[in-house]
Amino acid sequence: MARTALVTGGSRGIGAAISQALKAQGCNVAATYAGNDEAAAKFTEETGIKTYKWNVGSYEDSAAGIAKVEEEMGPIDIVVANAGITRDAPFHKMTPQQWQEVIDTNLTGVFNTVHPIWPGMRERKFGRVIVISSINGQKGQFAQVNYAATKAGDLGIVKSLAQEGARAGITANAVCPGYIATEMVMAVPEKVREAIIGQIPAGRLGEPEEIARCVAFLASDDSGFINGSTISANGAQFFV
Ligand code: CAA
Repeated sequence: MARTALVTGGSRGIGAAISQALKAQGCNVAATYAGNDEAAAKFTEETGIKTYKWNVGSYEDSAAGIAKVEEEMGPIDIVVANAGITRDAPFHKMTPQQWQEVIDTNLTGVFNTVHPIWPGMRERKFGRVIVISSINGQKGQFAQVNYAATKAGDLGIVKSLAQEGARAGITANAVCPGYIATEMVMAVPEKVREAIIGQIPAGRLGEPEEIARCVAFLASDDSGFINGSTISANGAQFFV
């Protein structure tokens, strides 16, 4: 029977590639987005993947959105917490608002996404939770005190969920992408981006599909004994 998958931030960037990879693997996929109606409509038109709009930073919106997805598509077996934002600034210039926005989306957003789905996974004795963290959660990054804190926190969530879910047939794993050719990375000033590429032994940015293939494997029934792990996909830029 086809599995049902939810991908937050699933209509653009790495999330769009993940949604498509899961669909290609035979899943029924729901992709969420926060604001860009036009991009979401285009994504649905091109891929046939249904999109839902809510703010992952709100627990009420997430719970209501998830209830709607489950009503329309059935119980969610696979959840990919991918939605993420940056508000980069050197620490001495970082505002409390820049801190809070990133915490709300990248860290609390993972809680808000997984928590409403978790009881059903426990009851059905199956679940795949995959959180998209980042190389910068592993190593820290200049101008990303907020982002690095959330992405490191995401790894703590996964390691704890793995222990709680293991006996209920639920796995929780993280993928830490390095620098991938998405709008987020293209927003970094060109000179800085070129310097970053110079630090990647592979000599290039990664492709969203290279991350999506890691997620598709973790989402599959074959990955059941991989639990609490982190896959680093960064072109050898950083080893844990
Ligand atoms: N390491 C060391 N120094 C750095 C640096 C770095 N990575 N990046 C910038 N600097 C230095 C600059 O050279 C400059 O130094 P000087 O003052 O001596 O010239 C200083 O820091 C910049 O100071 P400014 O006051 O001019 O900084 P700003 O307020 O204009 O902010 C910035 C600029 C936001 C830091 C910008 O440089 C930037 O966006 N940097 C990239 C940060 C980054 O890598 N973000 C990752 C985004 S992609 C992502 O997050 C996805 C993922 O998971 C991998």
